[in-house]
Amino acid sequence: MSAGLHAYPEEALLLGRGAVTWRPPARVGHERRTLMGKRVDPGLHTAPGRPIDPVSYEQYIGRWSRLFVPALLAAAEVTAGCRVLDVATGAGEAALGAMSVVTAAGLVVGADISPAMLVAARARLGEDGFEPVGTDGQALPFRDGTFDAVVCQLGLQFFADRGRGLLEFRRVLRPGGCAAACVVSTPDRAPMWGVLADVLGRRLPEQRDTLHLSFALADAERLERLLRSAGFRDVRVMRETRSGSFDNFAAYWAPIDAGTGHLPQVYRSLPDSIRRAVREEVSTRLAEFESDGRLAMTIEMLIAAGRA
Ligand SMILES: C[S@@+](CC[C@H](N)C(=O)[O-])C[C@H]1O[C@@H](n2cnc3c(N)ncnc32)[C@H](O)[C@@H]1O
Repeated sequence: MSAGLHAYPEEALLLGRGAVTWRPPARVGHERRTLMGKRVDPGLHTAPGRPIDPVSYEQYIGRWSRLFVPALLAAAEVTAGCRVLDVATGAGEAALGAMSVVTAAGLVVGADISPAMLVAARARLGEDGFEPVGTDGQALPFRDGTFDAVVCQLGLQFFADRGRGLLEFRRVLRPGGCAAACVVSTPDRAPMWGVLADVLGRRLPEQRDTLHLSFALADAERLERLLRSAGFRDVRVMRETRSGSFDNFAAYWAPIDAGTGHLPQVYRSLPDSIRRAVREEVSTRLAEFESDGRLAMTIEMLIAAGRA
């Protein structure tokens, strides 16, 4: 086990009262483990074996994700003392929020398929009250009924079999416990990612579906059906909108140039001349969000919740 990281524990992961037998992280959906014909990190957000740059992650994903975490935790009915599983924890955005709600009386487990993400989460969240676990969210290595709440912030849309993932969320919940998943709305309602996806998608039509994975669960009715099919009850889907701004286009573009995230990984793999053209086109299209030199945008996400 690497320094302080419990992503791949050798024996057993201890969760309070019960021991959970560890299994090697199952890998489901290998078909999505390449981008532009190149191997990528299993979570699709960085190059294989490369660490996550925390500053770029914060600028590209974290700052937007965080705005929705309080609503996600409320939807999953996370309260003090809860044992919470954060699936697709990434750099730990929802896990961090959950830790402050559950307090030292609870426990937060952050699961992700990407070892690089778990290293970033561990560095950020420390060791007290946070347990990172390397696993595919579609095959969780926990006993039935282990958690009071399961949250999944901006991760479910990347699963090859989302129904299977949701079945797993329900299985590891205690009866009556809640799961909540937050997903991005349509590209036009999330322009900070949607415009880049569209511009790349037009240049790489054969990659269009992969490039639009972030928006794959933007249909509220479909999302609701997915939860019901997985056996959840009291299912509801809420639309939430938040706002944010960048100092200028250069500040918006810096994490994309750094290649942190799913779309920036594709962008980085393009030849220089095409990269320049993509940057130019995105800049032109985002001009409508400029005000006093700043780029101000709103973002819509859907939060789906259900009870086991
Ligand atoms: C957009 S990031 C969101 C991370 C974090 N929850 C947040 O809101 O900042 C998506 C995350 O999903 C993870 N992921 C993708 N597919 C996964 C899978 N099948 N099982 C577990 N995690 C997965 C990626 O590694 C990445 O950390």
